[in-house]
Amino acid sequence: MNKLSFKRHRRLRSTASIRALVSETKLTTDDLIYPLFIIEGEQIKQEVASMPGVYQLSIDYLVTEIAELIDLGIKAVMLFGIPKEKDPEGSGAYCHQGIVQRAIRQIKDLAPELLVISDTCLCEYTSHGHCGIVDKFGVINDSSLILYVKAAISQAQAGADIIAPSNMMDGCVAAIRKGLDDAGFLDVPIMSYSVKYASAFYGPFREAANSSPQFGNRLSYQMDPANRLEALREVESDIEEGTDLIIVKPALAYLDIMREIRNKINTPLVAYNVSGEYTMIKAAAINGWIDEQAIVLEQMIAMKRAGADLIITYFAKDLAKWLKKRRDHL
Ligand code: PBG
Repeated sequence: MNKLSFKRHRRLRSTASIRALVSETKLTTDDLIYPLFIIEGEQIKQEVASMPGVYQLSIDYLVTEIAELIDLGIKAVMLFGIPKEKDPEGSGAYCHQGIVQRAIRQIKDLAPELLVISDTCLCEYTSHGHCGIVDKFGVINDSSLILYVKAAISQAQAGADIIAPSNMMDGCVAAIRKGLDDAGFLDVPIMSYSVKYASAFYGPFREAANSSPQFGNRLSYQMDPANRLEALREVESDIEEGTDLIIVKPALAYLDIMREIRNKINTPLVAYNVSGEYTMIKAAAINGWIDEQAIVLEQMIAMKRAGADLIITYFAKDLAKWLKKRRDHL
């Protein structure tokens, strides 16, 4: 009988050591960014109903929270503010005593080495819940930019290490870059939500941040999930305008987009593993239907394999614990 000719791929899968040796994608706690929701008031630690394990925290709770994050080895947080008062211009977003500005100062006092990334959006601060100033025709692009520049500068003045505009206004990166430079913040990077789809996966976040639009939707500024080329146009213009890092959001339903961007550009890429992605796993895990740890680790690896350098995720604390346990067992 003729000898069969084939390749023995299983050689490289035969033991745990050899599998580790040839593993192509690594995940470490250094890759993770943890989102925090900071609420006005005192002694508030309110769990978000649709996001078990995620809390709205008042500033006084930051002492214990930041100590825990440092202990877990988490290197970066992303901040969202929940103000007491809202108005049509979202003035809480660019106020020296705003909730996020105070939280940034507090975190930088507690842990100067922890990177603070400040989400720059108006929707948590506007009474109508839109990401800009509105008139009867919708969200007005250029006058909203002025407010975004003010918000970014006030966040940098408070000590934010990175500014993350998530509002999807055209020209936002150019406007914020110029504003930061003119104010002397030449070295503060921008992490732009360049590719942000109008997604139903943001539902639980809007409960967490109290930021649902009071009328209409975000389809005139966030992207159509059907579009791929549009994502590339957004990335190109944000790079031209001076973004230093690029976020793709949501993550899991858009890994094709992540890979396509990674193949074309060399800017650091960030996946935002959004609230709905977290909620679905938590709901299934609470019911005992899935192995939460295994599924989360598999999804994180998928994001990195698709080209993400960093991942913003509500699972960051869980992951830091799991990854540490794995290391300790080696
Ligand atoms: C603010 C913002 C949103 C998210 C991050 N920044 C919500 C939105 O655009 O409605 C969503 C994050 C998540 O779902 O975890 N514009």
